Amino acid sequence: MQIISSPLEMRAACKAYQRGNAQQTIGLVPTMGALHEGHLSLVRASRQRCDRTVVSIFVNPLQFGPTEDLARYPRTFQQDCALLEEEGVDLLFAPSPEEMYPAGTETIVDVPVTGARLDGASRPGHFRGVATVVAKLFNIVQPDAAFFGEKDAAQVAVLRKMVLDLNFDLSLVVCPTVREASRLAMSSRNRYLSEKERVEADALSRSLRTVESLVLQGERGTQVLREALQRELAHSDLLKVDYAELVDPLTLETLEAVELPTETLVAVAAWIGSTRLIDNCTLRIDGAGL
Ligand code: PAF
Repeated sequence: MQIISSPLEMRAACKAYQRGNAQQTIGLVPTMGALHEGHLSLVRASRQRCDRTVVSIFVNPLQFGPTEDLARYPRTFQQDCALLEEEGVDLLFAPSPEEMYPAGTETIVDVPVTGARLDGASRPGHFRGVATVVAKLFNIVQPDAAFFGEKDAAQVAVLRKMVLDLNFDLSLVVCPTVREASRLAMSSRNRYLSEKERVEADALSRSLRTVESLVLQGERGTQVLREALQRELAHSDLLKVDYAELVDPLTLETLEAVELPTETLVAVAAWIGSTRLIDNCTLRIDGAGL
């Protein structure tokens, strides 16, 4: 696996794959490192679908608010490299903040409506940072497909909108959330959790299962379902709910009812101590039920 930090060298390396007789397809897996099985599942999906797989590791300062965890965000570069090498990744792009945002950089990418919903509401500017860095990665790598986790459903909605609005010529591939045995969604931030917090964090996935079973029993009112989420999350004293919502998965707009045959994104975010965790599930109801 070749490791490159310069955007110009990265573009040249990707171009070399795309040009000539081979015309190989490229899959891009953007990450902030501290890799876990969720990231590796994206790498495997890319390797299945594309000739070449490029992973980026960049803890993007632009997507962290002034009081957020940029300084303490886990950085495990050597371990990450070993994992990616084992997965057969071709190129690792690991720029420094100065290489990604040279002095004088002023252009940003904003998806102001979708990007102000869910996490965007509680983390102002977060999705502007995400959209800007992902647009830059798309321009540097020019992938045929880019792979993201379903766990970050709001991020996926924002990036889908950006791809559509800015005519990026690539497929956005969304892969299922990978979970611990306890059903806790895998996240680099799970490393922050104490043993006790880890147990309490299971309330997030439990609240989603409660809503799924209520919908299976015929409940369609989002107010009732929202209250069920809140009730399940309130069982833990350690947990402070940030949001518990039922929304349209494309626009992230709040839904008044779970309707046939559309999809509903059930999304929760909560603080456990100083750690903010998110989880979600998508209700896909057709004539045959959930
Ligand atoms: O999901 C993440 O890890 C980040 O938001 C991303 C997409 C790599 C952009 O920094």
